[in-house]
Amino acid sequence: MPRLTQDETHPVRFTLNGRPVSARVSPRTLLTDVLRHEIGATGTHVGCEHGVCGACTVQIDGEPARACLMLAQQAEGCEVRTVEGLAKDDALSSLQEAFREHFALQCGFCTAGILMTLDALFLRQPDADEGAIREALSGHLCRCTGYAPIVQAALAARNRIKGGPIDA
Ligand code: FES
Ligand code: FES
Repeated sequence: MPRLTQDETHPVRFTLNGRPVSARVSPRTLLTDVLRHEIGATGTHVGCEHGVCGACTVQIDGEPARACLMLAQQAEGCEVRTVEGLAKDDALSSLQEAFREHFALQCGFCTAGILMTLDALFLRQPDADEGAIREALSGHLCRCTGYAPIVQAALAARNRIKGGPIDA
């Protein structure tokens, strides 16, 4: 297999929020950089850039993942979902609506990543209890809210979507 150099670019194709996208990337290009700088999906935030803060969390084939720790080429053929994919026809998802109602964000820097983690949790565990919600949130740093309103919003969203799809 030929060695790839950092100067070479190669195509990567994946589905972003249900739409096929492609870009040319170097072997070390991060998924965050492709999303934000090549595709313009700037809803995915970048904080620490080394897997600690959770701000960059997206869903890869339904599982939450730190986009700052993924090479863009690792997303080849995957279904990538970002915060831009939560609202439908300009209507907020139940989770987003609950965040708005419970004042679960202040500066909002952490919010996109937290939403993607909670959305993935409720997709696979619609009856997640407070312990499961707090465990899911443990991978996210928020400097503003003190977490209490985030947990309240998650519980409210859980109650709203229990037994139904996340965006019902
Ligand atoms: S920017 Fe990816 S975990 Fe902080
Ligand atoms: S709302 Fe500001 S970091 Fe969470």
